[in-house]
Amino acid sequence: MNVFSQKPFARIAGLGSYLPEKVVTNHDLEASLETTDEWIVSHTGIQQRHVVVEGQNCSDLGIMAAKRALEDAGISADELCMVICATCTADYENFPTTACLIQGAIGAVNAGAVNLNAACTGFPYALAFARSYCACHGAPVLVVAAEVISRLLDWHDRSTCVLFGDGAGAAVLVPSDEPGLVDEVLGADGTAGNALIRPCGTRFPIDGAVGVPFLQMNGKAIFPFAVRTMEDVIYKLLERNNLKLSDIRHVIPHQANRRIIEAVARHMDVPVERFFLNIDRVANTSSASVPIALDDLYRAGSIQTGDRILTIGFGAGLTFGGNLLVWNK
Ligand code: ACO
Repeated sequence: MNVFSQKPFARIAGLGSYLPEKVVTNHDLEASLETTDEWIVSHTGIQQRHVVVEGQNCSDLGIMAAKRALEDAGISADELCMVICATCTADYENFPTTACLIQGAIGAVNAGAVNLNAACTGFPYALAFARSYCACHGAPVLVVAAEVISRLLDWHDRSTCVLFGDGAGAAVLVPSDEPGLVDEVLGADGTAGNALIRPCGTRFPIDGAVGVPFLQMNGKAIFPFAVRTMEDVIYKLLERNNLKLSDIRHVIPHQANRRIIEAVARHMDVPVERFFLNIDRVANTSSASVPIALDDLYRAGSIQTGDRILTIGFGAGLTFGGNLLVWNK
């Protein structure tokens, strides 16, 4: 029987993240696109993004983040009972899953492996499922969120390519006597899916008829959805747990656009500084954005035992969600 098996809750025991070394600045993009650093910074808050090089894939980023999280947790890969990989830019469109590639590479020989796709909300969804699985099965679970969105972009389309970057973040969950992962709100509006779509998959015949399937986004439609749902998720998590915003040490939003976060802050009548932002350095890394931000805060020494943390995401689907954590690593 596993040593953890009598513990009813789950907590985060380790974090890790990884950004590919190659950096593309706004000034680099000025050379190939009709855009300016001033436009990108003023409309998004982004100054640079990390992108993969040829031969570097989603699983490569995920493996690096996973190894760092396992090392931080002091847990060996063979103790894991499950590897969940949140991604919408998997190495293979169908199979094998990126979770299996990561499971194999790190030697998680006793773990199942599954991909989860909730687009940019992938980490809040994966964390929610992982906390239940971890507590039920009494053994550590690895959550990896890894994305290479740069491979879905039309680098001639200035309205999308400036927004995204690549990266991965990971968390190791262990069973716990006290709840570290406390609650989550997960939701979707499947009627609005056309606002962010990549037109490929079994709906489309493999005969080249649809052209190159780049990501297509209606940014103006997503903006108000993001503001409304982020605010809703925050208030729901607070109300359900009898908390006020002042009880929360860190609010970690999906890093899609600084102006979205500013709008949420305005609606909630709090300063934007209430939200942790690293979008200037990493841009929108889809599902990886929340765990990369969480790891940034953690590695900077800004998270103390007992801190309450909210993670909030939104993304294609359209999906939205968030988690309430109490830090007891
Ligand atoms: N550089 C210069 N000009 C640009 C650029 C650029 N990179 N991109 C667009 N423009 C131009 C447009 O062509 C337009 O020109 P026009 O007025 O001559 O037609 C003008 O700037 C304004 O364009 P808008 O689309 O109206 O710009 P807006 O202020 O709405 O900002 C943006 C666009 C940044 C995409 C915004 O709508 C947004 O952030 N929406 C949310 C998108 C989002 O969150 N995406 C992620 C979704 S979920 C996920 O994370 C996967």
